[in-house]
Amino acid sequence: MNEGRVIGLVSGKGGVGKTSICVNLGIALSRLGNEVTLIDTDLSASNLGVYMGRYDHPVKIHEVLSGEATFQEAMFRHPTGVNALVASTEVSDTDPNTSEIGSIFDKAAKTSDYVLVDCAPGLTETVMDVMRGCAEVMVITSPTHTSGTNAAQAVQKAQQMRKPVLGTVVNKVEDNPEMELVDREIEMMTESHILSKIPYDRKMKESLFNKKPLVTYDELSRASVEIRKLAAEMDGKAFEQPKFLKAKRKLRSIKNTLRG
Ligand SMILES: Nc1ncnc2c1ncn2[C@@H]1O[C@H](COP(=O)(O)OP(=O)(O)OP(=O)(O)O)[C@@H](O)[C@H]1O
Ligand SMILES: [Mg+2]
Repeated sequence: MNEGRVIGLVSGKGGVGKTSICVNLGIALSRLGNEVTLIDTDLSASNLGVYMGRYDHPVKIHEVLSGEATFQEAMFRHPTGVNALVASTEVSDTDPNTSEIGSIFDKAAKTSDYVLVDCAPGLTETVMDVMRGCAEVMVITSPTHTSGTNAAQAVQKAQQMRKPVLGTVVNKVEDNPEMELVDREIEMMTESHILSKIPYDRKMKESLFNKKPLVTYDELSRASVEIRKLAAEMDGKAFEQPKFLKAKRKLRSIKNTLRG
């Protein structure tokens, strides 16, 4: 296998959906026949495992960083078929040295087509080390001024490091142009093009509550369809819109109403 693509999901602003997109995009890419590894680099507020269905593994990325464990010991196979490295949630483990974190990504790339790296919010030194270790950067934002501004800062950092920016994913879109940044504004702020617009979808939280990533919990939901479409575009494959989507959604909503 050739070296896989190492893509860092960065945002600047917290809470815009990096971890949700990392997990769901990863599973969607895996379902297209790719070997995918997800890496949690939110070392002080880890939650990738939670988004994978409250999944845990005894060996964390912290132990690989400190030399106490190998990469192979920390990597595990999730039931969805993706591989993952999770971070510790112990308060005492919050501040490891990350200057060599890129070597972990390189190891993952040797056995993966895609390595998706979930970043912490902010543009801290750790996030800078993570960006340096990635080959490409995908910017995640929501259509607000604050997240747009922070996304623009993340792009500037990537440019300073000469890291190619794949583009921007705009998440939690409610199609309310009076209250939200429009596409052109986001593209101007981030100096990159929009790869995907993922709607605000209450199914995202519902899937988290039910301990299943959205694309496995409800593959017809609006956010699910957009994420699967993004995965197909990244992978150079045609995306077939599920047939009778509107009718199926409507039928399901009637059934739910009847169930009360
Ligand atoms: N498209 C969406 N529609 C509705 N809710 C969403 C959507 N995407 C993410 N969320 C919700 O937004 C919250 C934050 O998402 P997430 O944790 O993925 O963001 P994050 O950028 O990783 O946050 P942090 O910066 O804290 O790591 C979660 O409750 C998640 O369920
Ligand atoms: Mg996160």
